[in-house]
Amino acid sequence: TRTQVGIIGAGPAGLLLSYLLHSEGIEAVVLETRSREYVERRVRAGVCEHPTTQLLREIGVGARMDAEGLPHHGLSLRFDGEDHRIALTELTGKAITVYGQQEIVKDLIAAHEAKGWPVEFEVSGVQPHGLDTEHPWIAYRDEDGATRRLDCDVIAGCDGFHGVSRPAIPAGEVRFFDREYPFAWLGVLARTPPSHEELIYTHHERGFALHSMRSPEITRLYLQVPHDEKIEGWSDDRIWSELSLRLETSNQDFSLREGPILDKGITPMRSFVAEPMSYGRLFLAGDAAHIVPPTGAKGMNLAVADVRMLSRALVELLRHKRSELAESYSDICLRRVWRAEHFSWYMTSMLHVDPGADEFGRRLQLSQLRYTASSRAAATSLAENYVGLPFA
Ligand code: FAD
Ligand code: DHB
Repeated sequence: TRTQVGIIGAGPAGLLLSYLLHSEGIEAVVLETRSREYVERRVRAGVCEHPTTQLLREIGVGARMDAEGLPHHGLSLRFDGEDHRIALTELTGKAITVYGQQEIVKDLIAAHEAKGWPVEFEVSGVQPHGLDTEHPWIAYRDEDGATRRLDCDVIAGCDGFHGVSRPAIPAGEVRFFDREYPFAWLGVLARTPPSHEELIYTHHERGFALHSMRSPEITRLYLQVPHDEKIEGWSDDRIWSELSLRLETSNQDFSLREGPILDKGITPMRSFVAEPMSYGRLFLAGDAAHIVPPTGAKGMNLAVADVRMLSRALVELLRHKRSELAESYSDICLRRVWRAEHFSWYMTSMLHVDPGADEFGRRLQLSQLRYTASSRAAATSLAENYVGLPFA
């Protein structure tokens, strides 16, 4: 079969790219190794930046987000046992929306289904070919195991950090930049109302903790754990007692609400950037091109910014035969990517306990927290990055 854009991966990047292209009259096919049920259930990011929510609304997939998403106008930095509120909306005029990544994925899949736009789940053996020609193609097996070939004008690698697209670029044509952190996040989803109306990013001597939510009935919580930690060592009881130790405050109004744990898992933390984000007729977007540690809530939002730009570049290339935007795709995206890399690294370093830090490092960290909480200029800088800088 033939299409204009072969998209590898049905995460937020691949599905949104397909939606944007079809909306402009460009044909695309999305290939996904997992099942529809699996991608719709995978619990991941929860914070949508202002530009992300604006885009989803403008293109007509924001209805359920507007009905069920939770607008937030501030967040708390909790340290020294006290809350310091960063008034996001007062400082920037903008808000963020708490709406789970898998809800956006569900909304995009439902839109594809309603319009008859193709998404093939449970494919295997996906391999891009002919990237340095004008006729690239993707070899794969369909859900029944039959060998297939998808001929394309362009391939979009939206297959996440462990996908096949980035490794298909010949060595020497792409440079990698990365940083590992000596910790990971243990994330839990619990059936219990949030203990506080807003997100709480907590710095505690036992490690970082984050209080977030998905709905008025569902709480999302994270704990800093060592980088090689196994989930088997974390019983529900141990998770709750560690959370309550770290989230403890001198504020009498706060008490952690416990409830049944619905999902738990450990996510490694790393920073990673591939430059450039394209090679010949292959364009990388989202986690396939870059990873941020989750502390700034930027991963999914960056994927959205990438495919917004990529869809414009591909409309220019395929409809108008103009390649300038496609050629600048990587440079344009990398500016936003590096801003998010810095912000995510900064939030991570300010809030976690680095087991290798010396006393000098710990004093600097506390000073940065106190400055951010007390200076309007510092708080505004955090806030404008957090709510999302305007798209290019
Ligand atoms: P993905 O969502 O990874 O989608 C890639 C898709 O490609 C997947 O569906 C995958 O199954 C598919 N795929 C992979 N290989 C192939 C192949 N060979 N062929 C076809 N399909 C393939 N960010 C935050 O901001 N906050 C968080 O709390 C947070 N938690 C996270 C937890 C985990 C476990 C992970 C892995 C990421 C988390 N992130 C978080 C990051 C955020 O979820 C990602 O940045 C976001 O999912 C990126 O979207 P994407 O579409 O680029 O990639
Ligand atoms: C959530 C995840 C994040 O990485 C973050 O910074 C804030 C909230 C969440 O899953 O709710």
